[in-house]
Amino acid sequence: MGKLVPKLYDLIMAPIEKKRFKRVRSELLSYADGHVLEIGSGTGVNFPLYQNVKSVTAVEPDETMKNRSMEKITHSKVPIEVQLAYAENLPFDDHQFDSVVVTLALCTIQDVNQALSEMRRVVTPGGQVMFFEHVKLNDSTVGKLQDLLTPVWKKVAGGCHLNRDSLTLIKEAGFEVTDVDHMYKGLFLVIKAKNP
Ligand SMILES: C[S@@+](CC[C@H](N)C(=O)[O-])C[C@H]1O[C@@H](n2cnc3c(N)ncnc32)[C@H](O)[C@@H]1O
Repeated sequence: MGKLVPKLYDLIMAPIEKKRFKRVRSELLSYADGHVLEIGSGTGVNFPLYQNVKSVTAVEPDETMKNRSMEKITHSKVPIEVQLAYAENLPFDDHQFDSVVVTLALCTIQDVNQALSEMRRVVTPGGQVMFFEHVKLNDSTVGKLQDLLTPVWKKVAGGCHLNRDSLTLIKEAGFEVTDVDHMYKGLFLVIKAKNP
């Protein structure tokens, strides 16, 4: 990913985090319980927002992102550890976690199907899996624009795909989607699902 994205991430995101995303994240994380796995934790934006969970284990493959998240752990109310690892190859036992949290990270994971399959493996049957993601808008000019921009955007934004149909991928992975909230005309989705 290089050094620039990790350095600028919090600064670039600050206005929208303050205006809307922080509230969305807090509401979503209130559904997490027990031992939680967070995928692609980045600079640790979610860390201070966890309440009433037993522990958070986060995986983040980018060392600079991981290092920047360490300071946020000091503001957290729950025990958090971050491991340098990829979602496609989670270093955990089957059914080890009660909940899985993924925010703005499915778009960036290279083999998203493998990552979703790994999430199903490590979360307990009936466990909650929650996502906050930007997605492709289908059948619209914006959707076509997302396809067009993605090859260039991926290069400047650490591998982020603007045109990922994450809701379909989550369903195809076998998760049972229980709730979907649309934001910004469906450009962002808040998805709650269960591992059946
Ligand atoms: C846009 S950032 C989002 C960070 C954070 N989740 C948030 O909500 O602000 C995407 C993160 O996904 C991480 N990532 C990329 N590929 C990954 C993979 N294969 N497995 C796990 N995380 C990955 C990136 O390093 C980056 O930190």
